[in-house]
Amino acid sequence: MNKNIEVLANKEELINRSLELILAQIPTALEQRDCFTLALSGGSTPKPLYQKLSAQKLPLEKIHIFWGDERYVASDHADSNQLMARQAWLDQVAFPPENIHPMPTTGGDPVADAQKYEVELRQFFQVAPGEFPQFDVMLLGMGDDGHTASLFPNTAVLKEDTNLVAVGDKSGEPRITLTVPTINHARCVMFVVAGENKRPALAQVFAETGDEMMYPSRLIQPMGELYWLLDQAAGAEIATT
Ligand code: 6PG
Repeated sequence: MNKNIEVLANKEELINRSLELILAQIPTALEQRDCFTLALSGGSTPKPLYQKLSAQKLPLEKIHIFWGDERYVASDHADSNQLMARQAWLDQVAFPPENIHPMPTTGGDPVADAQKYEVELRQFFQVAPGEFPQFDVMLLGMGDDGHTASLFPNTAVLKEDTNLVAVGDKSGEPRITLTVPTINHARCVMFVVAGENKRPALAQVFAETGDEMMYPSRLIQPMGELYWLLDQAAGAEIATT
């Protein structure tokens, strides 16, 4: 059983547990591959987690940072997931610049920029066409519509089963996103979800049967470990495992 559901008493405990779980994955990755690969989620929930990570003493030279998705804006735009992570963590510590792998968003063509990131991932992870990279930890959030990364309800990207990276669509706004198979090949997928407004979507995502196109987080069924870390406000009606 690789699905772990934990409901934490409040947001602070949720963030502390998320931090603990991320840190716990690092030693094995370094023992086995001398490298730890972490894909960051965007939005607002993870910001305090990144702030706590910036206070940790970590082997930064062996940690590589990627993103699960990115808004199609410049890296200094207020909506940029990269900007949020740099301000909360990455630019506050001594990461080697080459260890930070932002999604390109300034080429003027989201499809071409998605393909550029795909090339970067294939080169970094040394994966050939048809193969998928195995991120050590894939951090995810979930929107109140059940989307994750930039896999929005009823969008074409949900069916993408070949490419590692594709263009998501949020009401006509382009996003760069990892695809479902790329996320599902991660060694450890961690959803970090907080707030009562997420409760209805969580009920649909956790229901025995449901519409995966309507609630894309249902598509995240990794071969590795899956953690749903919820605060009480979001997960009050969800049975823990
Ligand atoms: C993004 C995220 C997105 C986010 C959810 C939850 O680019 O916005 O990657 O998938 O995780 O929308 O966002 P909140 O944490 O702000 O609720």
